[in-house]
Amino acid sequence: MESVTGQALYQRARKRIPGGTQLLSKRPEMFLPEQWPAYYSKAQGAEVWDLDGNRYIDMSYGGIGACVLGFADPDVDDAVRQTIANGSACTLNAPEEVYLADLLCELHPWADMVRYVRCGGEAMAAAVRIARAKTKRDKIVFCGYHGWQDWYLAANLAEDDALSGHLLPGLSPAGVPRGLTGTALPFPYNDIPAFHKAVEEAGSDLAAVVMEPQRGGPPAPGFLETIREETRKRGALLVFDEITAGFRLNTGGIHLLRGVMPDIAVFAKAISNGYPMGAIIGTGEAMQAAQDTFLSSTHWTERIGPTAALAAVRKHQRVDAAAHLVRTGESVQQAWRDAATATGLRITVAGMPPLARFTIDEAEPQAVKTLFVQEMLDRGFLASNAFYAMYAHTEAQVQCYAAAVREVFQNLRTAIDANDVTKRLRGPVAHSGFFRLA
Ligand SMILES: Cc1ncc(COP(=O)(O)O)c(C=O)c1O
Repeated sequence: MESVTGQALYQRARKRIPGGTQLLSKRPEMFLPEQWPAYYSKAQGAEVWDLDGNRYIDMSYGGIGACVLGFADPDVDDAVRQTIANGSACTLNAPEEVYLADLLCELHPWADMVRYVRCGGEAMAAAVRIARAKTKRDKIVFCGYHGWQDWYLAANLAEDDALSGHLLPGLSPAGVPRGLTGTALPFPYNDIPAFHKAVEEAGSDLAAVVMEPQRGGPPAPGFLETIREETRKRGALLVFDEITAGFRLNTGGIHLLRGVMPDIAVFAKAISNGYPMGAIIGTGEAMQAAQDTFLSSTHWTERIGPTAALAAVRKHQRVDAAAHLVRTGESVQQAWRDAATATGLRITVAGMPPLARFTIDEAEPQAVKTLFVQEMLDRGFLASNAFYAMYAHTEAQVQCYAAAVREVFQNLRTAIDANDVTKRLRGPVAHSGFFRLA
């Protein structure tokens, strides 16, 4: 099932498009260099067809977390088609902006107002701008990954690896003004002493603490509460990034389940099931500062984004998509555990069920992971060591996947024991972070 056309096109892309793709996480080198199908001709439910007509079941990242309901969801797409028929852009505004704002504030009763953008990183940049405008301060203390923008990459101006351990290692701040050095100060998740150290360093210039309320394991007791209390005490805003964690365990922000309310929460990705959309929601007091600064863009007013978001959020709620995501994620995590026990492959299963992952506790884990991807691709699965559940995933698909994982884990065990993991690879070992492509 080797992909010729897709890889040939990707080699052309590497000459025309610096870095090959627009999103690091969709780079074929992150999965299976020289073999990953790279492009799709069609995606529906949890199925994907590549350019060569091969069909796969996507048991990897579900559109990198964007397609929480599934690819080409019929309800969301019907709503979008209607909007296209009625004009997706106009001199007047899209009424869906208001309907969606009402819905998001109903789901998050602490929030009063909403602004929109079209991408996740852009939404975070707008939230940071609002926080800086509100507090008239500059410094941001943060945890986790929040996009490509200058405010965030500024953390790597001070030391090259400040952002390592915040999802993606090796992010280069080349092109980010040196003058931003010291404006973004990181702390690791669940590390209260490190958090205190960072806010002390920011001192009276602390504008906001920016973080995901939860990404992998749950917050340690008192962790989020301490941050909430400290930001209030210091007159700084608390901004929760719900771009990936939101709409997984519940319809809305995961912070609702943790009982800690921010001043601002940010949504993108899953909120619109793959259509470009981002929403910044917040208290009236925080969000009014969006009027003290200039935040304005033509394509923030197009109609498809809010149409898709309204349809996606309503469906998510109506079908209780979160319950399905949790069940599916739990089954996959159990399949990994069972296969590991049966074959003796040493792995650690982690993550909340809808955003599940495993690490390989063997020598040369990256090579072993690459062989896993290769062997799963041979069996008709887009797979990696992470699984993002979609509402479209069926139990039958999970069962087929579980059987394939069992077989592949056995092959990995055999390859490790025979010391020939890299010999079995038909191409190079996958990349694990940000690299400049040759
Ligand atoms: C938590 C978080 N914040 C921000 C972003 C950036 O969003 P986007 O890729 O839409 O710019 C991501 C994307 O992976 C994310 O996971």
